[in-house]
Amino acid sequence: MAKPVIGILTWREGHSFKEPGYFRSLVREGQKLGATVFIFSHKDAFPDKKQVRGYVPDGNTWTSRIFPWPDVVIDRCRTAQEGYSEFRKQKHFVYANHTFTNKMSATRLFSNEEGLKKWIPATVDYNAQNLVRMFKNHRIVYIKPGNGTGGKSIVKISRVKDGYRLLGRTKGYAKRNVIFRNLTSLTNWLNNWVRQERIRKGSFMIQQGLDLELLPGHVSDMRLLIQKNDQGKWEVTGEGMRIGGVNNPTSNLHGGGRASTTEAVLHKRFTPEKTREIIAECHNLAHGVVTVIEKHFGRMLEYGLDIGIDKQGSVWLIEVNPKPGRELFRKMGRRDLYQQSIRRPLQYAIYLNEQEQKQEQKQEQKQEQKQEQEK
Ligand SMILES: Nc1ncnc2c1ncn2[C@@H]1O[C@H](COP(=O)(O)OP(=O)(O)OP(=O)(O)O)[C@@H](O)[C@H]1O
Ligand SMILES: [Mg+2]
Repeated sequence: MAKPVIGILTWREGHSFKEPGYFRSLVREGQKLGATVFIFSHKDAFPDKKQVRGYVPDGNTWTSRIFPWPDVVIDRCRTAQEGYSEFRKQKHFVYANHTFTNKMSATRLFSNEEGLKKWIPATVDYNAQNLVRMFKNHRIVYIKPGNGTGGKSIVKISRVKDGYRLLGRTKGYAKRNVIFRNLTSLTNWLNNWVRQERIRKGSFMIQQGLDLELLPGHVSDMRLLIQKNDQGKWEVTGEGMRIGGVNNPTSNLHGGGRASTTEAVLHKRFTPEKTREIIAECHNLAHGVVTVIEKHFGRMLEYGLDIGIDKQGSVWLIEVNPKPGRELFRKMGRRDLYQQSIRRPLQYAIYLNEQEQKQEQKQEQKQEQKQEQEK
């Protein structure tokens, strides 16, 4: 079989890419697996000529040249550039991963799935009435952009003795720490906040607050990576914990968080047996989630799941990321998992190409047989 050609679709400005380190590793691993891998943006594709201007590392910089039309494309575009969405809709390539949706729609979808419901925290759109309703059932709520990432613009609000306490971070990661005497002043502040912090035309969501303080003074949550393997089957590559900074409402690594193995954190609070049960439940959750996603959106490649484990040991799905990072594995000192997390999407792309070719051959054979019969 000819050497498979794999294109990585991303954002590009000149020779600058959003994730240069990761892309270098992808190209290098691709070579080891006997594939040609290059990076490109939608502006580099020339469908009429069936050619792509692809970028590959060249020492410390990048060099570009013309490549044949890729057999499989992995969409890793995390920042939409002008023209990307239209290009993506045109189905120019065999994509390893279909497009997904935002956090709020995904949460709504999962809440309506019988098999997933139990893992989804109560979530509603942000508005004043919903805030009152949520505080009737929950002492803590989180408010976050329905289309956000990076832990930005998230606030945690706790009902306290004489009012409400709000902790949060702005888009620019500036801290907010405010006390409100009543719901009216809190709502006024929040209405202003959602106007200031909103991303494009996005709305905000209110979510039941989970008590993730497994270690005193620190919230932590699990980040699990599930990927398709070289046989096209979903497999959990690994998982680890993100531990937030002191008095931080989120565990985000950019917010001063650090990484640890799952066992190291869970053993501080649960027995080894309970720890095993929790991890197994997280794996079940991950398999359930990707099955539902593929049912609704079509073929996918990998997902990073943010999973909350509360102090009682209950498991909750916080978020699913269709273009997940892998830094956590490196920060945990698990280079093996990091390496595997890079290899797997390429192995899956190679597998997918083989399947596509077999399919094509079958169709050609059928066509030939039909022509024979018609003679
Ligand atoms: N309902 C909740 N209860 C408790 N903690 C929460 C809740 N929602 C979010 N958090 C905390 O905030 C973090 C970020 O939330 P979320 O993943 O929804 O936002 P994000 O902007 O996508 O962040 P990231 O890009 O790091 O995934 C979570 O990992 C968790 O620590
Ligand atoms: Mg998240």
